Amino acid sequence: MKTANTTNGTKLGGRFTFSGTSLTVQRMGYGAMQLAGPGVYGPPKDPDAAVAVLREAAATGVNHIDTADFYGPHVTNQIIKKALHPYPTGLVIVTKLGTRRPADGSWQPAVSSQDLTEGVHDNLRNLGLDALDIVNYRAMGAIHGPAEGSIAKEVTVLADLKRKGLIRHIGVSNVTPGQIAEAQAITEVVCVQNNYNLANRNDDALIDDLARRGIAYVPFFPLGGFTPLQSSTLSAVANRLGATPMQVALAWLLHRSPNILLIPGTSSVAHLRENLASAQLTLSPETLSELDEIAASAAAIEH
Ligand SMILES: NC(=O)c1ccc[n+]([C@@H]2O[C@H](COP(=O)([O-])OP(=O)(O)OC[C@H]3O[C@@H](n4cnc5c(N)ncnc54)[C@H](OP(=O)(O)O)[C@@H]3O)[C@@H](O)[C@H]2O)c1
Repeated sequence: MKTANTTNGTKLGGRFTFSGTSLTVQRMGYGAMQLAGPGVYGPPKDPDAAVAVLREAAATGVNHIDTADFYGPHVTNQIIKKALHPYPTGLVIVTKLGTRRPADGSWQPAVSSQDLTEGVHDNLRNLGLDALDIVNYRAMGAIHGPAEGSIAKEVTVLADLKRKGLIRHIGVSNVTPGQIAEAQAITEVVCVQNNYNLANRNDDALIDDLARRGIAYVPFFPLGGFTPLQSSTLSAVANRLGATPMQVALAWLLHRSPNILLIPGTSSVAHLRENLASAQLTLSPETLSELDEIAASAAAIEH
């Protein structure tokens, strides 16, 4: 049995090497979606502030940035290039394909071979790269999460682009265990990016399974995304520890499993600093049990 390849003890949660790759990142990364304008569409109100967030992240040692060329569209990648190009050695930029943003700002599937190929070239151009480190195929799924359905055609297109040298490694996003297995029959899958946090624990079993196989699990919406996490238990724990609720939510994810890599999103340097500092928060077994109750109560309310 393989175990997740991590080392602990650094200020950003320890390092993780994506299985089958030479890419090693700090477990505490950064998600760039919040750098585009309102609704993840158009430019941000303050482009200099967006550049400052990225430079602060890199200066603190963050070397894992999650993005997509459909954030903006193009805007977020262009800001990353402006802020950080030429990129520091060891920076891993992970992008995703499978969606496009028409002029009405909606999120539409972009899954044909032509869409995916053009998406790779858009990312390369806007990021200023010759090859993309990791590309996630992001399945559209249903409103609340992934939905079954074959992703073989799309993953095969990405595997072809990998053979051509435009993509180094492939991941999958918003997917079910069945879809992950389907992708793994086509190509090596180095990470899975799904919706998961203190209150949404649908992927608990999946995370443990991926950890046994050394595959990274990268939760999106680690702070609740468009609906920020709110819980009296979370606030009480945070008060007790002299931390903020968001810091406790991130620290809980780092404690949850060694194959979890964090990409919290923010448009603010102050929030970025707060989020990065959460890697230094230690949660006792008693506190972890207390926090586990949040999902249990959320599930009880839903049923
Ligand atoms: N694969 C996918 O389908 C998918 C979907 C969604 C997102 N993603 C990726 O996952 C990353 C993380 O998700 P996300 O950014 O949507 O959601 P998130 O990280 O759960 O939360 C971001 C929200 O929390 C706020 N926030 C951040 N730090 C805070 C703090 N310390 N205190 C208070 N508020 C704070 C942000 O506002 P401020 O800007 O004001 O800080 C923003 O509104 C994205 O950036 C993106 O790269 C992937």
